[in-house]
Amino acid sequence: MLNTKIWDVRDYTYRLKDYPHFEEIIQMYQEGKRIVLPTETVYGLGGSALNEQTVKGIYEAKGRPSDNPLIIHIYDTQQLDNFVTSISETTLKLMEAFWPGPITFILPLKKGYLCERVTGGLNSVAVRMPSHPVARYILKTAKIPIAAPSANLSGRPSPTTFEHTYEDLNGRVDGIIHSTPSDAGLESTVIDCTSFPYRIARPGTITRQMLNEILPNSIDDTVIDMTEKPIAPGMKYKHYAPDTPLVLIEHIGNDIREDAHDNWNEVAFIIPESLSKYIPKAAKTIILSRDEFDIPNANKNLYAALHQLDELAEIKRAYMYSYPVNGDTEALRNRMTKAANHQVVKDELL
Ligand code: TXA
Ligand code: MG
Repeated sequence: MLNTKIWDVRDYTYRLKDYPHFEEIIQMYQEGKRIVLPTETVYGLGGSALNEQTVKGIYEAKGRPSDNPLIIHIYDTQQLDNFVTSISETTLKLMEAFWPGPITFILPLKKGYLCERVTGGLNSVAVRMPSHPVARYILKTAKIPIAAPSANLSGRPSPTTFEHTYEDLNGRVDGIIHSTPSDAGLESTVIDCTSFPYRIARPGTITRQMLNEILPNSIDDTVIDMTEKPIAPGMKYKHYAPDTPLVLIEHIGNDIREDAHDNWNEVAFIIPESLSKYIPKAAKTIILSRDEFDIPNANKNLYAALHQLDELAEIKRAYMYSYPVNGDTEALRNRMTKAANHQVVKDELL
């Protein structure tokens, strides 16, 4: 068990330089310590991308297979000169449009600067410039690229709050920065820019449509089929699954009968508020959003809902509304499908 330091910076989000322990945090990153930091997508388990031991320790703390490379977080695009061979005009356009923000670019790797382990022996590297003010100020001041996978134990949902990451990593890392809940709530969009057309390797809150608006005809339009061979190495691992058996449900209406079960009190429904009127009174409801079109809130609340589900001792199984299929729900449905292990019911609840 490590003695994990906790730094509550919630009152310092936009003036981190005034936080009394700020210099200690920066120094620890530079020394190769592993410190959880908030980002706008999910909390990340950060450490120097230049230090083999640090990166080894990140894999160990998560219990993550080490053939799964990490995302490198940067403060400005000049840092890319150190470890990327070239960036095309098209990629630059996307960076200008969406950075800083919740999108990761896979770029051709220039070897020799980053430690070897962090890119898992690939010829490419995943890079992101987060927009969260705390992450940004740390990256600016530490002046080193920070490798950061999501700050959860491997196989658990990604953390969108301090409490989630504390539960998984307290005692396993050197420090945790306690900040506010993550805004986007799902991991960044990953776009592979090493071959043309560019492919979305992991859908996120920067949607296919948003990318197409900047670069028409440059994004491969195949939607990720989760049963296919994974594009991003991480896609092949079991992810995001709660312990409670969970099934997706495509339709919820007044055909759910109170008398179909006498043990509704063991059942939870994860749904938009607008559908709660159809849920049997004895069942537990966990609300994701106002209605089925309120996708930003559904994205933001999904992982907290999965955490909450496992905390409800009396609940034996759960149904989660899968939201309509459209351009805005690709990332949400992708994470939901994984959480439910591809189990879907159409409408019958027996
Ligand atoms: O939002 C996020 O991206 C968060 C925050 C902390 O920034 N980070 C995150 O990292 O989700 P992680 O390690 O949990 O997911 C990184 C994904 C994995 O699926 C990994 O396989 C993929 O990116 N990846 C990393 N390097 C790659 C590469 N060179 N080629 C293809 N995929 C890569
Ligand atoms: Mg992850």
